[in-house]
Amino acid sequence: SGQAFPHAGRRKPFIGDLGVSDPRHPLLSLLEWGADLGPIYEMRIFRQNFVFVSNVELAAELCDESRFCKALPPAITALRQYAGDGLFTAHNDEPNWQLAHELLMPAFTKSAMQSYHPTMLETAGELFDYWDRQSGPVDVTRSMTKLTMETLSRAAFSHDFGSFTTSQPHPFVGAMIRALETGRRKGGLLTAPGGRLLGRYLDHRNADQQAYVDRLLDDLIAERTGSSDQHDLLGIMLNVSHPETGERLSPLNIRYQILTFLVAGHETTSGALSFTLYYLSRNPEVLAAAQREADEILGADPRATPTFEQVPKFRHIRRCLDEALRIWPTVPAFARSPRSETMLADRYRMRPEDWAVIVLGQVHRDPSVWEEPDVYDPDRFLPANIKKRPAHSYKPFGSGLRACIGRQFAIHEAVLVLACLLHRYDLTGDPDYELAVDERLTMVPRDFELGLQPRKQLA
Ligand code: HEM
Repeated sequence: SGQAFPHAGRRKPFIGDLGVSDPRHPLLSLLEWGADLGPIYEMRIFRQNFVFVSNVELAAELCDESRFCKALPPAITALRQYAGDGLFTAHNDEPNWQLAHELLMPAFTKSAMQSYHPTMLETAGELFDYWDRQSGPVDVTRSMTKLTMETLSRAAFSHDFGSFTTSQPHPFVGAMIRALETGRRKGGLLTAPGGRLLGRYLDHRNADQQAYVDRLLDDLIAERTGSSDQHDLLGIMLNVSHPETGERLSPLNIRYQILTFLVAGHETTSGALSFTLYYLSRNPEVLAAAQREADEILGADPRATPTFEQVPKFRHIRRCLDEALRIWPTVPAFARSPRSETMLADRYRMRPEDWAVIVLGQVHRDPSVWEEPDVYDPDRFLPANIKKRPAHSYKPFGSGLRACIGRQFAIHEAVLVLACLLHRYDLTGDPDYELAVDERLTMVPRDFELGLQPRKQLA
């Protein structure tokens, strides 16, 4: 048997808890609603139950790979319309997941980052030149989104979206985000009466966007087909076959993977950079220490850039990033299902078709593990402090076999960009700015601007 999951107890007939979550801020409004319901709670919308977990103890249980694995809740399943059996949206037992994972892992190791390092530096340099041509404060999130989109598309597909020659993002970015948001909205609707019909209407309205995205990706693949070049991810996907089985990825699956990398890889890292800069601008001592570290490693020339080997030496800057991702994990949640029927917390029965969502923003602020959880303090990530915490208390990149394949990529890029930026400019935040968070596919700060003063040759 097992107990029922706690819920708000004031459910409306038929629609259930619909209306408690604000569609513009689905997760943030949900957190407010669930705040009093304890570390595990259930929401029902029409016929679909959603279970949320918000403390370290339960998250750690769900991260036990021997009992639980990744789940695809409706909002993620809906993305399969665009990303199919690409790495992020594949079911655990789909053959293309295993194949792509094995073929692509070598392209994401720490040492593989060496080949992307020059591209990352070059793209960061273009962003700084773009800023230098502007006057007044810069829009941080928008700039960082241009940067991470360019870095990823150049490193992965050798494709230049020209983001720094126009003030608007490339139309592909807008089309891709609109297409995916339609997918996400559809995911929320599927169990509603008439939901499928509404879904078809959204698809119809969205057909042009999707066709544009598909065409651009297919052209990118066609351009490179037949070339034996393996210098980037696309080259690996087109030319490398599995060492034992000889299998390769199909052109359709390659399109899914490209879209997956573009989506999974750019807004996430952009948000991480933007939140870090926000907290640096609000914490003068932390900022001074980060700038000191950049200066010590990079020397007197404010335009100096790090070598590949120097990037992991920016330890304090790395901790600033880790701490920003604790308070604002840009992928705010992920879902887990039991491998076979089991009891969660010895009380709640879960079957393999059930799933629970780990709400990272709450797990990362669980007061039983994190003291003064709302305070920004990068020293929490000093090695001695990490050791004191229980396993699975910090999971911004997910967990287990299906954890983020791009983690090293994101960290290398973010640390490199922060170090160069702090070495090159002095930052001033607007003291009146109040942090507002936009929920798109991921979480990013809204309308956050920074003044940047180029630094002179350092003594
Ligand atoms: C998976 C977070 C950057 C590609 C994930 C997951 C999380 C995550 C939480 C697991 C989702 C789940 O369990 O359902 C992040 C964050 C990033 C980041 C916070 C930046 C700060 C990147 C980058 C790339 C990338 C740069 C690609 C270059 C992927 C892929 C998966 C994934 C392909 C699916 C892996 C699989 O299931 O095999 N990411 N990610 N991510 N991420 Fe990232």
